[in-house]
Amino acid sequence: MAERISAAEVHYPFSFVIAGDSGAWPDPTADAIFSQLLRQTADLCPAPVFLANLGDFAGPGTPERHEHYMDLVASLPMPNVSLIGNHDLEDAHGADAWAALHGPRNFHFAYGNTRFVAIDGASGQAGELGDTTPPDTAGPSAEALSFLEDTLAATTEPHRVVLTHAPPHLDGHYAPQPECGFRQGEPEFLDILRAHDVTLVCCAHGLGFDHHVRDGVRYVMSGGGGAALYLSYREAAGPDRGALFHAVEITVTEAGAVGGRVFQAFAPPGTAAPFTFGSACAHLAKQHSQIAGGPEYRWLEEREVIQRAERG
Ligand SMILES: [Fe+2]
Repeated sequence: MAERISAAEVHYPFSFVIAGDSGAWPDPTADAIFSQLLRQTADLCPAPVFLANLGDFAGPGTPERHEHYMDLVASLPMPNVSLIGNHDLEDAHGADAWAALHGPRNFHFAYGNTRFVAIDGASGQAGELGDTTPPDTAGPSAEALSFLEDTLAATTEPHRVVLTHAPPHLDGHYAPQPECGFRQGEPEFLDILRAHDVTLVCCAHGLGFDHHVRDGVRYVMSGGGGAALYLSYREAAGPDRGALFHAVEITVTEAGAVGGRVFQAFAPPGTAAPFTFGSACAHLAKQHSQIAGGPEYRWLEEREVIQRAERG
């Protein structure tokens, strides 16, 4: 999949879609929700460059569950990028099943002037960094952190995006579910982001949507792919957080500006995005879904305005 993305013709602005936690355990209802999100992704115009599932889509990680997932995404017209989640490693042979079907847990690819680095953000309880308390707080393994550091050190593209399963703890930002953020290896992870000018981290694991900018890094959590939702995020909902089954369309301009819009599963076409973010494209996202009868046309038109602005 990564090769297909890197070989694709490059246009700016471009978009990609993230989703996560679509199948932490076998559940036909989760499959129906995620399948609908896939259909909505396929209908986006302009087409996203890829869809990244940020993990917990084939729990407990048996070969049958991975094959089932691949059947779900088979009709997706754009590449599917798969990241490993903690539930995908619950089976005793989960690691082998992953390797056989998806290959490495850590990988990277470029699209235009943006480098995407995908890491194993789920198996951090094992390894030299030691155990985590509470144990549910999975984070990147020591191997994943080394891969992230080495890859970014060798990256020539000016814009860098990290794809991973669990978000960092960020001083309990995800409260009342602070356990979804990892602490083991967090200082090292944040140091790597800082040292290599990463401005966007896409993650899942937390069962809802959250958008947060800290120290110049934008964290977008999309863990509403179908498995479950945090009820607590209904009470803690706000302009940057919600409990809804969804995916996120993220747009990147040639200059590296990022904007995003959430689309909720089963929302009728033309429905206003429940959440938008980003200085470059937030207003576009709203217009994209609000203009009756011509959202695609207006979206394209606004993108051309951005392109002209970037060309000066
Ligand atoms: Fe998870």
